Amino acid sequence: MKPSRKWLAIVTGGLLSLILLPGLVLYGLGWYRLNRTYSVQSRLVSIPKDPSSLLEGQRIFRYRGCEACHGEDLGGLVYLDNPAVGLVITPNLTSGEGGIGDERSDLDLIRAIRHGLDPRGKPLLFMPSAEFYYLSDADLGAVLAYIRSQEPVDNQPGSSQLSPAGFIAMNLVREITFLPAELIPHDDPPPIPPEPGLTAAYGQYLSLSCPVCHGLGMSGGEIPGFPPEWPAAGNLTPGPGSRLPGWGEEGFIDIIRDGEKHGRALHPDYMPWTSYRYMSDLELRAVYLYLMSLEPQDFGNR
Ligand code: HEC
Ligand code: HEC
Repeated sequence: MKPSRKWLAIVTGGLLSLILLPGLVLYGLGWYRLNRTYSVQSRLVSIPKDPSSLLEGQRIFRYRGCEACHGEDLGGLVYLDNPAVGLVITPNLTSGEGGIGDERSDLDLIRAIRHGLDPRGKPLLFMPSAEFYYLSDADLGAVLAYIRSQEPVDNQPGSSQLSPAGFIAMNLVREITFLPAELIPHDDPPPIPPEPGLTAAYGQYLSLSCPVCHGLGMSGGEIPGFPPEWPAAGNLTPGPGSRLPGWGEEGFIDIIRDGEKHGRALHPDYMPWTSYRYMSDLELRAVYLYLMSLEPQDFGNR
Protein backbone atom coordinates (compact mmCIF):
# COMPACT_ATOMS: atom_id res chain seq x y z
CA MET A 1 0.00 0.00 0.00
CA LYS A 2 1.33 3.43 -0.92
CA PRO A 3 1.66 5.72 2.08
CA SER A 4 -1.06 8.05 0.76
CA ARG A 5 -3.53 5.14 0.47
CA LYS A 6 -2.57 3.98 3.91
CA TRP A 7 -3.35 7.37 5.34
CA LEU A 8 -6.60 7.50 3.44
CA ALA A 9 -7.54 4.14 4.95
CA ILE A 10 -6.65 5.32 8.43
CA VAL A 11 -8.55 8.56 8.08
CA THR A 12 -11.59 6.84 6.58
CA GLY A 13 -11.48 4.17 9.22
CA GLY A 14 -11.15 6.82 11.90
CA LEU A 15 -14.11 8.75 10.54
CA LEU A 16 -16.22 5.62 10.28
CA SER A 17 -15.48 4.62 13.84
CA LEU A 18 -16.30 8.15 14.97
CA ILE A 19 -19.78 7.54 13.62
CA LEU A 20 -20.09 3.84 14.35
CA LEU A 21 -18.65 3.77 17.81
CA PRO A 22 -21.14 6.16 19.46
CA GLY A 23 -23.93 4.29 17.62
CA LEU A 24 -22.71 0.99 19.03
CA VAL A 25 -22.35 2.44 22.51
CA LEU A 26 -25.88 3.89 22.39
CA TYR A 27 -27.23 0.62 21.02
CA GLY A 28 -25.58 -1.29 23.84
CA LEU A 29 -26.92 1.15 26.42
CA GLY A 30 -30.43 0.75 24.99
CA TRP A 31 -30.09 -3.02 25.11
CA TYR A 32 -28.95 -2.83 28.73
CA ARG A 33 -31.86 -0.58 29.73
CA LEU A 34 -34.41 -2.85 28.05
CA ASN A 35 -32.99 -6.07 29.46
CA ARG A 36 -32.10 -5.14 33.00
CA THR A 37 -34.30 -6.67 35.66
CA TYR A 38 -35.92 -4.84 38.54
CA SER A 39 -36.97 -6.57 41.70
CA VAL A 40 -40.05 -4.97 43.21
CA GLN A 41 -42.44 -5.95 45.95
CA SER A 42 -45.93 -5.59 44.54
CA ARG A 43 -48.92 -6.18 46.78
CA LEU A 44 -52.15 -7.97 45.97
CA VAL A 45 -55.34 -5.91 46.00
CA SER A 46 -58.80 -7.30 46.55
CA ILE A 47 -60.62 -8.05 43.30
CA PRO A 48 -64.38 -7.57 43.46
CA LYS A 49 -66.79 -9.90 41.64
CA ASP A 50 -70.13 -8.06 41.67
CA PRO A 51 -71.56 -6.79 38.35
CA SER A 52 -71.42 -3.10 39.28
CA SER A 53 -67.68 -3.33 40.04
CA LEU A 54 -67.12 -4.98 36.64
CA LEU A 55 -68.90 -2.07 34.95
CA GLU A 56 -66.87 0.38 37.00
CA GLY A 57 -63.71 -1.52 35.98
CA GLN A 58 -64.69 -1.21 32.32
CA ARG A 59 -65.27 2.54 32.72
CA ILE A 60 -61.86 3.03 34.35
CA PHE A 61 -60.26 0.82 31.68
CA ARG A 62 -61.71 3.22 29.13
CA TYR A 63 -61.03 6.62 30.67
CA ARG A 64 -57.48 5.67 31.70
CA GLY A 65 -56.76 4.86 28.03
CA CYS A 66 -56.21 1.10 28.46
CA GLU A 67 -58.89 0.29 25.88
CA ALA A 68 -57.39 2.64 23.26
CA CYS A 69 -54.04 0.80 23.46
CA HIS A 70 -55.19 -2.75 24.24
CA GLY A 71 -58.30 -2.96 22.05
CA GLU A 72 -61.99 -3.05 22.79
CA ASP A 73 -61.97 -6.85 23.22
CA LEU A 74 -58.57 -6.74 25.05
CA GLY A 75 -57.18 -8.96 22.28
CA GLY A 76 -54.10 -6.76 21.70
CA LEU A 77 -53.03 -4.70 18.71
CA VAL A 78 -50.12 -3.04 16.94
CA TYR A 79 -49.58 0.15 18.93
CA LEU A 80 -46.63 1.44 16.90
CA ASP A 81 -44.97 0.26 13.69
CA ASN A 82 -42.25 2.72 12.73
CA PRO A 83 -38.72 1.89 11.53
CA ALA A 84 -37.30 4.65 13.74
CA VAL A 85 -38.64 2.89 16.84
CA GLY A 86 -39.63 -0.64 15.89
CA LEU A 87 -42.71 -2.68 16.47
CA VAL A 88 -44.62 -2.11 19.70
CA ILE A 89 -47.47 -4.52 20.33
CA THR A 90 -49.95 -4.75 23.17
CA PRO A 91 -50.48 -8.33 24.30
CA ASN A 92 -53.77 -10.19 24.23
CA LEU A 93 -54.88 -9.86 27.88
CA THR A 94 -57.58 -12.53 27.65
CA SER A 95 -57.28 -16.28 28.23
CA GLY A 96 -57.96 -17.12 24.57
CA GLU A 97 -55.43 -18.65 22.17
CA GLY A 98 -52.40 -16.36 21.96
CA GLY A 99 -53.50 -14.57 25.15
CA ILE A 100 -51.48 -14.12 28.35
CA GLY A 101 -54.55 -14.18 30.63
CA ASP A 102 -53.98 -17.74 31.89
CA GLU A 103 -50.19 -17.38 32.17
CA ARG A 104 -50.28 -14.29 34.36
CA SER A 105 -51.11 -14.36 38.07
CA ASP A 106 -52.97 -11.42 39.60
CA LEU A 107 -49.65 -10.29 41.05
CA ASP A 108 -48.07 -10.42 37.56
CA LEU A 109 -50.82 -8.13 36.23
CA ILE A 110 -50.40 -5.74 39.16
CA ARG A 111 -46.62 -5.65 38.61
CA ALA A 112 -47.25 -4.80 34.94
CA ILE A 113 -49.84 -2.09 35.62
CA ARG A 114 -48.28 -0.39 38.65
CA HIS A 115 -44.59 -0.96 37.94
CA GLY A 116 -44.38 -1.39 34.16
CA LEU A 117 -42.55 -4.72 34.48
CA ASP A 118 -43.11 -8.13 32.91
CA PRO A 119 -43.10 -11.27 35.11
CA ARG A 120 -39.29 -11.53 34.84
CA GLY A 121 -38.97 -7.95 36.11
CA LYS A 122 -37.95 -6.50 32.73
CA PRO A 123 -39.36 -3.08 31.78
CA LEU A 124 -42.34 -2.90 29.41
CA LEU A 125 -42.18 -0.59 26.40
CA PHE A 126 -44.51 2.44 26.38
CA MET A 127 -46.94 0.94 28.91
CA PRO A 128 -47.69 4.17 30.90
CA SER A 129 -47.24 2.71 34.37
CA ALA A 130 -45.61 5.88 35.71
CA GLU A 131 -49.24 7.15 35.78
CA PHE A 132 -50.87 3.90 36.88
CA TYR A 133 -48.42 3.60 39.79
CA TYR A 134 -50.71 6.11 41.52
CA LEU A 135 -53.95 4.13 40.97
CA SER A 136 -55.89 3.43 44.15
CA ASP A 137 -56.36 -0.18 45.24
CA ALA A 138 -60.10 0.19 44.57
CA ASP A 139 -59.60 1.41 40.97
CA LEU A 140 -56.91 -1.20 40.27
CA GLY A 141 -59.05 -3.98 41.78
CA ALA A 142 -62.01 -3.00 39.56
CA VAL A 143 -59.78 -2.92 36.45
CA LEU A 144 -58.39 -6.39 37.27
CA ALA A 145 -61.93 -7.70 37.81
CA TYR A 146 -62.89 -6.34 34.39
CA ILE A 147 -59.82 -7.87 32.67
CA ARG A 148 -60.47 -11.26 34.30
CA SER A 149 -64.16 -11.19 33.33
CA GLN A 150 -63.43 -10.88 29.61
CA GLU A 151 -64.50 -13.49 27.08
CA PRO A 152 -61.44 -15.35 25.74
CA VAL A 153 -60.29 -13.87 22.42
CA ASP A 154 -58.19 -15.97 20.03
CA ASN A 155 -55.58 -13.57 18.71
CA GLN A 156 -51.81 -13.78 18.45
CA PRO A 157 -50.72 -10.14 18.14
CA GLY A 158 -46.98 -11.05 18.27
CA SER A 159 -44.43 -9.38 20.49
CA SER A 160 -42.74 -6.01 20.62
CA GLN A 161 -39.35 -5.62 18.99
CA LEU A 162 -37.34 -2.40 18.94
CA SER A 163 -35.48 -1.67 15.70
CA PRO A 164 -31.71 -0.98 15.86
CA ALA A 165 -32.59 2.71 15.40
CA GLY A 166 -35.08 2.37 18.28
CA PHE A 167 -32.36 1.11 20.65
CA ILE A 168 -30.36 4.24 19.79
CA ALA A 169 -33.33 6.65 19.79
CA MET A 170 -34.38 5.62 23.30
CA ASN A 171 -31.14 7.20 24.56
CA LEU A 172 -31.28 10.32 22.42
CA VAL A 173 -34.95 11.33 22.36
CA ARG A 174 -35.30 12.30 26.00
CA GLU A 175 -38.79 13.76 25.56
CA ILE A 176 -40.29 10.37 24.86
CA THR A 177 -40.45 7.81 27.63
CA PHE A 178 -39.69 4.40 26.15
CA LEU A 179 -39.51 2.64 29.52
CA PRO A 180 -41.91 4.15 32.09
CA ALA A 181 -40.56 1.69 34.70
CA GLU A 182 -37.44 3.87 34.89
CA LEU A 183 -39.49 6.79 36.26
CA ILE A 184 -41.24 4.88 39.02
CA PRO A 185 -39.98 5.08 42.64
CA HIS A 186 -40.44 1.30 43.00
CA ASP A 187 -38.97 1.09 46.50
CA ASP A 188 -40.84 4.00 48.11
CA PRO A 189 -43.84 3.34 50.32
CA PRO A 190 -46.96 3.16 48.10
CA PRO A 191 -48.52 6.55 47.27
CA ILE A 192 -51.70 7.50 49.14
CA PRO A 193 -54.50 8.17 46.62
CA PRO A 194 -57.01 10.97 47.30
CA GLU A 195 -60.60 10.13 48.25
CA PRO A 196 -62.98 10.39 45.28
CA GLY A 197 -64.86 13.69 45.47
CA LEU A 198 -65.10 17.21 44.11
CA THR A 199 -61.56 18.24 45.07
CA ALA A 200 -58.54 19.50 43.14
CA ALA A 201 -56.54 16.56 44.55
CA TYR A 202 -58.95 14.05 43.02
CA GLY A 203 -58.93 16.06 39.78
CA GLN A 204 -55.14 15.81 39.68
CA TYR A 205 -55.36 12.04 40.25
CA LEU A 206 -57.65 11.83 37.19
CA SER A 207 -55.35 14.07 35.12
CA LEU A 208 -52.15 12.03 35.44
CA SER A 209 -52.00 11.41 31.68
CA CYS A 210 -52.49 15.03 30.54
CA PRO A 211 -48.90 16.34 31.10
CA VAL A 212 -47.49 13.92 28.47
CA CYS A 213 -48.95 16.24 25.84
CA HIS A 214 -49.97 19.41 27.68
CA GLY A 215 -46.62 19.74 29.52
CA LEU A 216 -45.70 19.42 33.18
CA GLY A 217 -47.06 22.92 33.81
CA MET A 218 -50.14 22.11 31.61
CA SER A 219 -49.72 25.23 29.47
CA GLY A 220 -49.70 23.28 26.17
CA GLY A 221 -47.86 24.22 22.98
CA GLU A 222 -45.94 22.07 20.48
CA ILE A 223 -45.40 18.60 21.92
CA PRO A 224 -41.63 17.90 22.02
CA GLY A 225 -40.56 14.67 20.33
CA PHE A 226 -43.92 14.15 18.59
CA PRO A 227 -44.35 14.20 14.78
CA PRO A 228 -44.53 17.76 13.38
CA GLU A 229 -48.04 17.27 11.93
CA TRP A 230 -49.47 17.12 15.44
CA PRO A 231 -51.45 20.22 16.45
CA ALA A 232 -50.21 22.14 19.49
CA ALA A 233 -51.88 21.07 22.74
CA GLY A 234 -54.08 23.73 24.37
CA ASN A 235 -53.32 25.77 27.48
CA LEU A 236 -55.17 24.03 30.33
CA THR A 237 -54.14 26.53 33.02
CA PRO A 238 -56.19 29.68 33.68
CA GLY A 239 -53.37 31.72 32.06
CA PRO A 240 -53.54 34.15 29.09
CA GLY A 241 -55.05 32.64 25.92
CA SER A 242 -56.55 29.64 27.72
CA ARG A 243 -60.05 28.82 26.46
CA LEU A 244 -61.01 26.97 29.65
CA PRO A 245 -62.05 29.86 31.92
CA GLY A 246 -64.37 31.13 29.15
CA TRP A 247 -65.92 27.71 28.57
CA GLY A 248 -66.58 27.22 32.28
CA GLU A 249 -67.10 23.87 33.94
CA GLU A 250 -70.07 22.99 31.73
CA GLY A 251 -68.30 23.89 28.46
CA PHE A 252 -65.25 21.89 29.57
CA ILE A 253 -67.43 18.83 30.21
CA ASP A 254 -69.09 19.32 26.79
CA ILE A 255 -65.82 19.37 24.85
CA ILE A 256 -64.45 16.30 26.62
CA ARG A 257 -67.72 14.40 26.04
CA ASP A 258 -68.38 15.44 22.42
CA GLY A 259 -64.96 16.61 21.19
CA GLU A 260 -66.34 20.02 20.24
CA LYS A 261 -67.44 23.30 21.75
CA HIS A 262 -67.96 26.82 20.38
CA GLY A 263 -66.78 25.78 16.91
CA ARG A 264 -63.64 24.15 18.30
CA ALA A 265 -63.33 20.44 17.35
CA LEU A 266 -60.66 18.18 18.82
CA HIS A 267 -59.30 15.40 16.64
CA PRO A 268 -59.39 12.13 18.63
CA ASP A 269 -56.18 10.89 16.96
CA TYR A 270 -54.36 13.67 18.82
CA MET A 271 -56.48 14.52 21.85
CA PRO A 272 -57.88 11.31 23.36
CA TRP A 273 -61.27 12.68 24.45
CA THR A 274 -62.82 9.40 23.20
CA SER A 275 -61.22 7.82 26.30
CA TYR A 276 -61.76 10.69 28.77
CA ARG A 277 -65.45 11.00 27.84
CA TYR A 278 -66.12 7.98 30.10
CA MET A 279 -65.37 10.03 33.20
CA SER A 280 -68.47 10.86 35.25
CA ASP A 281 -69.76 14.42 35.64
CA LEU A 282 -68.29 14.53 39.13
CA GLU A 283 -64.92 13.35 37.84
CA LEU A 284 -64.81 15.88 35.01
CA ARG A 285 -65.84 18.63 37.42
CA ALA A 286 -62.95 17.61 39.70
CA VAL A 287 -60.58 17.76 36.70
CA TYR A 288 -61.82 21.26 35.84
CA LEU A 289 -61.48 22.35 39.45
CA TYR A 290 -57.91 21.05 39.45
CA LEU A 291 -57.00 22.77 36.17
CA MET A 292 -58.42 26.10 37.37
CA SER A 293 -56.38 25.78 40.58
CA LEU A 294 -53.11 25.58 38.59
CA GLU A 295 -50.59 28.38 38.41
CA PRO A 296 -51.69 30.54 35.41
CA GLN A 297 -49.15 30.12 32.59
CA ASP A 298 -48.63 31.65 29.17
CA PHE A 299 -49.48 29.33 26.28
CA GLY A 300 -46.62 26.99 25.40
CA ASN A 301 -44.62 27.55 28.59
CA ARG A 302 -44.95 23.68 28.97
C1 HEC B 1 -50.19 4.09 25.56
C2 HEC B 1 -50.65 2.75 25.40
C3 HEC B 1 -51.00 1.93 26.61
C4 HEC B 1 -51.92 2.22 27.58
C5 HEC B 1 -52.73 3.50 27.76
C6 HEC B 1 -51.99 1.06 28.42
N1 HEC B 1 -51.12 0.09 28.00
FE1 HEC B 1 -50.81 -1.75 28.83
N2 HEC B 1 -49.31 -2.10 27.53
C7 HEC B 1 -48.95 -1.27 26.49
C8 HEC B 1 -47.88 -1.89 25.73
C9 HEC B 1 -47.22 -1.30 24.50
C10 HEC B 1 -47.62 -3.13 26.35
C11 HEC B 1 -46.58 -4.16 25.90
C12 HEC B 1 -45.22 -3.66 26.23
C13 HEC B 1 -44.11 -4.52 25.71
O1 HEC B 1 -44.33 -5.35 24.82
O2 HEC B 1 -42.97 -4.35 26.20
C14 HEC B 1 -48.54 -3.23 27.47
C15 HEC B 1 -48.59 -4.31 28.36
C16 HEC B 1 -49.56 -4.48 29.32
C17 HEC B 1 -49.73 -5.67 30.14
C18 HEC B 1 -48.96 -6.96 30.00
C19 HEC B 1 -47.69 -7.09 30.69
C20 HEC B 1 -47.18 -8.51 30.58
O3 HEC B 1 -47.33 -9.25 31.52
O4 HEC B 1 -46.63 -8.88 29.53
C21 HEC B 1 -50.81 -5.45 30.94
C22 HEC B 1 -51.39 -6.40 31.98
C23 HEC B 1 -51.32 -4.14 30.65
N3 HEC B 1 -50.53 -3.57 29.67
C24 HEC B 1 -52.43 -3.59 31.25
C25 HEC B 1 -52.87 -2.26 31.03
C26 HEC B 1 -53.94 -1.62 31.77
C27 HEC B 1 -54.79 -2.28 32.83
C28 HEC B 1 -54.01 -0.34 31.31
C29 HEC B 1 -54.87 0.80 31.83
C30 HEC B 1 -54.88 1.03 33.27
C31 HEC B 1 -53.03 -0.21 30.25
N4 HEC B 1 -52.36 -1.38 30.11
C32 HEC B 1 -52.83 0.94 29.51
C33 HEC B 1 -49.50 -0.05 26.18
C34 HEC B 1 -50.49 0.60 26.90
C1 HEC C 1 -51.80 12.31 23.49
C2 HEC C 1 -51.74 13.73 23.76
C3 HEC C 1 -52.78 14.36 24.68
C4 HEC C 1 -53.17 13.95 25.94
C5 HEC C 1 -52.68 12.76 26.72
C6 HEC C 1 -54.13 14.93 26.39
N1 HEC C 1 -54.32 15.88 25.44
FE1 HEC C 1 -55.64 17.40 25.50
N2 HEC C 1 -55.04 18.03 23.67
C7 HEC C 1 -54.06 17.44 22.92
C8 HEC C 1 -53.93 18.16 21.66
C9 HEC C 1 -52.94 17.82 20.57
C10 HEC C 1 -54.88 19.18 21.67
C11 HEC C 1 -55.20 20.14 20.55
C12 HEC C 1 -56.10 19.35 19.62
C13 HEC C 1 -56.53 20.08 18.40
O1 HEC C 1 -56.20 21.24 18.24
O2 HEC C 1 -57.26 19.42 17.61
C14 HEC C 1 -55.57 19.08 22.97
C15 HEC C 1 -56.59 19.91 23.36
C16 HEC C 1 -57.24 19.82 24.58
C17 HEC C 1 -58.32 20.68 25.00
C18 HEC C 1 -58.87 21.86 24.21
C19 HEC C 1 -58.06 23.07 24.59
C20 HEC C 1 -58.28 24.24 23.73
O3 HEC C 1 -57.74 25.31 24.05
O4 HEC C 1 -58.96 24.13 22.69
C21 HEC C 1 -58.69 20.31 26.26
C22 HEC C 1 -59.76 20.93 27.12
C23 HEC C 1 -57.85 19.21 26.61
N3 HEC C 1 -56.99 18.92 25.57
C24 HEC C 1 -57.89 18.57 27.84
C25 HEC C 1 -57.10 17.48 28.18
C26 HEC C 1 -57.15 16.84 29.47
C27 HEC C 1 -58.03 17.28 30.63
C28 HEC C 1 -56.28 15.80 29.40
C29 HEC C 1 -55.99 14.77 30.45
C30 HEC C 1 -57.14 14.18 31.15
C31 HEC C 1 -55.67 15.81 28.08
N4 HEC C 1 -56.18 16.85 27.37
C32 HEC C 1 -54.74 14.89 27.63
C33 HEC C 1 -53.33 16.33 23.25
C34 HEC C 1 -53.49 15.58 24.39
